[in-house]
Amino acid sequence: MTHEYDAIIATARRIALEAGAIQMRYFRKLESYEKKGHIDLVTIADRESEELIHREILHAFPDHAVLGEEGGRYGAEQSDYLWIVDPLDGTTNYAHGLRLFAVSIGVSFRGQIIAGVVYAPALDELYTATRGGGAFRNLQQIRVSERDKLEDALLVTGFPYDRAAHVKPLMTMLGECIKSSRGILRLGAASLDFAMVAAGHLDGFYEYGLRPWDMAAGALLVEEAGGRVTGFAKDEKFDLFGKRSVASNGRIHDELLRAITCEGGALTFPP
Ligand code: IPD
Ligand code: CA
Ligand code: CA
Repeated sequence: MTHEYDAIIATARRIALEAGAIQMRYFRKLESYEKKGHIDLVTIADRESEELIHREILHAFPDHAVLGEEGGRYGAEQSDYLWIVDPLDGTTNYAHGLRLFAVSIGVSFRGQIIAGVVYAPALDELYTATRGGGAFRNLQQIRVSERDKLEDALLVTGFPYDRAAHVKPLMTMLGECIKSSRGILRLGAASLDFAMVAAGHLDGFYEYGLRPWDMAAGALLVEEAGGRVTGFAKDEKFDLFGKRSVASNGRIHDELLRAITCEGGALTFPP
């Protein structure tokens, strides 16, 4: 199996680098700040990136399946392997010329994520992990931070596109984190939020409403860097297809869960 993982991660890394090159080809080439211009341009980068990714995956592994954000499912109908792809994570940043965007490729085997790559081409940062093999940035091993109190922690969160429907609970959670931590960021690219926790720059990340392609690679990065990934409630396991995700260095995890669930009290999100 290790040999199979090696081939998978090598391919995922190569494809992510190629997709990142596509992103850079269109980055900051906006001619105007009109909304349509943004959307058109982002669509080109998204589409070209995803087309390349799924073509290359199936060329290398014809019996695998691919789930891509833009195009849905490709490849084998029945396969133990599912590649879960966000061809451009951080679209809003990208459209505004901010460098915080990435390609995210996670690979699951019979439902368990076994390999992940997050590549942020404008930052020149390539994050990789294989289950049991550790997490790396540009081939250097990374570890989560050692901060063990929420009051010393720097957190990050994000807001789903349907945030208008959930303003109240989102603000409640945010308020608790503002009160009890050193600070909280919103970077705008979930795959990088996970990566920054894995690398120890940030201590915790939570978000409601993420999709599998936002999380597949990043969740493995955090676990392999020594951190913890769960749902919102105590004992709620992390669910790649669920909506409630928390990642941390492990040490502040329980305290962070207590803050975002208001000590286990009312949280009005759907599960
Ligand atoms: C989004 C980003 C953002 C998160 C959103 C995602 P996209 O992905 O990861 O940080 O808050 O929930 O949908 O649309 O840029 O691929
Ligand atoms: Ca995304
Ligand atoms: Ca995307």
